[in-house]
Amino acid sequence: MRCNQVRLNSGITMPVVGLGTYSFQNDRETTEAAIHMSLKMGYRHFDTAKIYGSEPAVGNALTEAILNRTVGREDIFVTSKLWGSDHHDPVAGLKQTLKNLDMEYLDMYLVHWPVKLKPWARDAIPIEVEFEKLDLETTWAGMEKCLDMGLCRCIGVSNFSSKKIESLLEFASVPPAVNQVEMHPMWRQAKLREVCGDHKIHVSAYSPLGGPGNSWGSTAVVDNPVIQSIALKRKATPAQVALKWGLSKGASVIVKSFNEDRLRENIGALELKLDDQDFLKIDRLEERKIMRGEFLVNQTTSPYKTIQQLWDDEI
Ligand SMILES: NC(=O)c1ccc[n+]([C@@H]2O[C@H](COP(=O)([O-])OP(=O)(O)OC[C@H]3O[C@@H](n4cnc5c(N)ncnc54)[C@H](OP(=O)(O)O)[C@@H]3O)[C@@H](O)[C@H]2O)c1
Repeated sequence: MRCNQVRLNSGITMPVVGLGTYSFQNDRETTEAAIHMSLKMGYRHFDTAKIYGSEPAVGNALTEAILNRTVGREDIFVTSKLWGSDHHDPVAGLKQTLKNLDMEYLDMYLVHWPVKLKPWARDAIPIEVEFEKLDLETTWAGMEKCLDMGLCRCIGVSNFSSKKIESLLEFASVPPAVNQVEMHPMWRQAKLREVCGDHKIHVSAYSPLGGPGNSWGSTAVVDNPVIQSIALKRKATPAQVALKWGLSKGASVIVKSFNEDRLRENIGALELKLDDQDFLKIDRLEERKIMRGEFLVNQTTSPYKTIQQLWDDEI
């Protein structure tokens, strides 16, 4: 890790604190204001996805910042994701994303979920008739094409279990640089981190605070008494403890806040020091996966009949 950056297996570097941009309200002005504030505080990595609807706001704010010379395009790192309905044609999916962002290239393009949907599926929660059989080999070939065409600097995956990572590696010409998954002190991903580490795939932690405030999220992490006692001892906040824990495990953290104080608080986690005792206490916390993915499971059309199948029993 150099200057709060991690070097990926593709050779490029990525800032280890990323700003998440998913919000249910998806209010363009609020999102843009948060991006401008975050740039002033030193955030350089921005995480969006076609399905979040935040690409236009992210692109607009970043373009403004580039035009007024707050940052150069080469100083920022933009991640977006291929939705299930674009598995048929990742190049077309990425071109649409670039159009939404009004950018020429992405730094990172991720397969959002190991789920393929009908091309006309539009919503974040697919309905039964929209599922198709997953054909990862073809999808990944399309991702590699995006890379070859210079539409992105790196490709990766998200929500992939250890088993799915290993099966992808059997046919991938270019291995994924990143696997972006839920990870926080109460969902520590020990096995997945080991498998990804063996293959030099960087693990990026989404919902590193457990997504408090999201309809599906939880305050279990930031309200946890152990996390709170470590925070008290370290004169830090529970969110900073959770973020620093993830960073200390070698992950990058993709944390969302659109609030000025919490944006500052979150990037301040980089300065926090935790010791072995703190790590030991966190390692003993009961685990609990918050984003379980039930919306991608059904008895008829989904390739996943149970959440255990979706996560290959890593749940
Ligand atoms: N690949 C995937 O499938 C996937 C899935 C989920 C998320 N993600 C990405 O990861 C990002 C982050 O995940 P997330 O938004 O689910 O969860 P998160 O970052 O763990 O939590 C965000 C929530 O916590 C609040 N918050 C932020 N900082 C805080 C602090 N210091 N103290 C207390 N509360 C705080 C935020 O509210 P305020 O804005 O009011 O501060 C927001 O409601 C997303 O925005 C998205 O970019 C990816």
